[in-house]
Amino acid sequence: MLLVGLGAVSTTTIAGVMAIRRGLASPIGSLTQMGTIRLGKRTEGRAPKINEFVPLASLNDIVFGGWDIFEADCYAAAKTAGVLEPAQLEQVRPELEAIKPMPAVFDQRYVKRLDGPNVKKGKNKRDLAEQLIADIRAFKAKHGCDRMVMIWCGSTEVYMKEAAVHATIDSFEKGLEQSDDAIPSSMVYAYAALREGLPFANAAPNLTADIPAMLQLAAKMKSPIAGNDMKTGQTLIKTIIAPGLKARLLGVKGWYSTNILGNRDGEVLDDPESFKTKEESKKSALDYIFQPHLYPELYGDLTHVVRINYYPPRGDNKEGWDNIDLIGWLGYPMQLKINFLCRDSILAAPIVLDSVMFLDLAKRAGMSGIQEWLSFYYKSPMHAPEVYPEHDLFIQLMKLKNTLRYLQGEDLITHLGREYYD
Ligand SMILES: NC(=O)c1ccc[n+]([C@@H]2O[C@H](COP(=O)([O-])OP(=O)(O)OC[C@H]3O[C@@H](n4cnc5c(N)ncnc54)[C@H](O)[C@@H]3O)[C@@H](O)[C@H]2O)c1
Repeated sequence: MLLVGLGAVSTTTIAGVMAIRRGLASPIGSLTQMGTIRLGKRTEGRAPKINEFVPLASLNDIVFGGWDIFEADCYAAAKTAGVLEPAQLEQVRPELEAIKPMPAVFDQRYVKRLDGPNVKKGKNKRDLAEQLIADIRAFKAKHGCDRMVMIWCGSTEVYMKEAAVHATIDSFEKGLEQSDDAIPSSMVYAYAALREGLPFANAAPNLTADIPAMLQLAAKMKSPIAGNDMKTGQTLIKTIIAPGLKARLLGVKGWYSTNILGNRDGEVLDDPESFKTKEESKKSALDYIFQPHLYPELYGDLTHVVRINYYPPRGDNKEGWDNIDLIGWLGYPMQLKINFLCRDSILAAPIVLDSVMFLDLAKRAGMSGIQEWLSFYYKSPMHAPEVYPEHDLFIQLMKLKNTLRYLQGEDLITHLGREYYD
């Protein structure tokens, strides 16, 4: 597993997998490790564990590597991130210390609040991409890997829109040579991964692989891709609550969400340009779930506000508040308040693990391009241009499980269930 950025999310994932495979901790939150899947009729009683139903890689077979702009090894980086208890990190310390970040492709113009010494130099972005490809090959040879997956767990970059240079593989490669400004660091990594035929996931809200050139490259190299922006704290809760309100046709006039968080991610998001990328990603979910064009009376004039405040004392322990102004029968108003005291990286780590496991499976199953069945994990799910993204967590889960049934030649489950009553 190759991770871009060895920050809070990556180190929590890596240290977590190390602890889990030594039997020191439990993979709570991971569908690939704990989930089951119903097969056939309810009367058959078949519900194997997902990792016994589909041929996933074993945790014991995973080796980790990554890039960061800081030189700290994975143990030191995990200590700085301050997510896991020091005593827990001690248990896997030698393994963590052995992971030293490779020099990064980084340009401060795309992440204004960061700067670090462990950065590659190159004559243009193409040269930097080739250096990443050399890193990937060297890692593969050194560790004897059969397969690899890359996931961007680097910081949120400044807000960018699709540009002409993103249109085709050709225009993108010319852009790399000319070090075009519309190619941020994350795209250089995605390009390197896809060129090597690796599956690629984007855990952040950046544009990264969500441009036509990358989709063409993924198709050409048969690489599956997934993203964008992991669905963890507040948006996870939003996509749990909103489908329920909509199912009961309760109207929503306003949804005010605010957060405090104090990790490095929070510091980066304190820059308005990085925040804009996050804000766009966070705001779209409600629109798609509520479908105001179909239900104008219920959701047509919804005010949706999202705030993130950088507040260092809390570190990775984010606190989110939601106030939802509802309307019920005959238009009577109600309110719902949610106060979620969560841990950002504890919610993110199982998503990183599952994304990598499922992308590796997809690659072996010959599925390339956007893996919409992995929308389950993402705030801004990648999707084909002709369809809207599906944000409802429960539809996403059904789609994911049906994809696994389909891959293994089992009947899809429609929940029709007439056979029990006919
Ligand atoms: N719950 C969550 O934690 C969560 C949820 C959704 C999305 N995300 C996103 O995941 C990403 C990682 O979050 P985090 O909490 O680990 O952040 P973090 O700040 O702890 O770690 C990010 C790391 O990326 C490194 N980095 C930045 N640019 C790089 C580059 N070009 N090359 C190599 N390394 C680079 C930084 O030095 C840092 O160590 C962020 O973009 C965040 O918005 C996190």
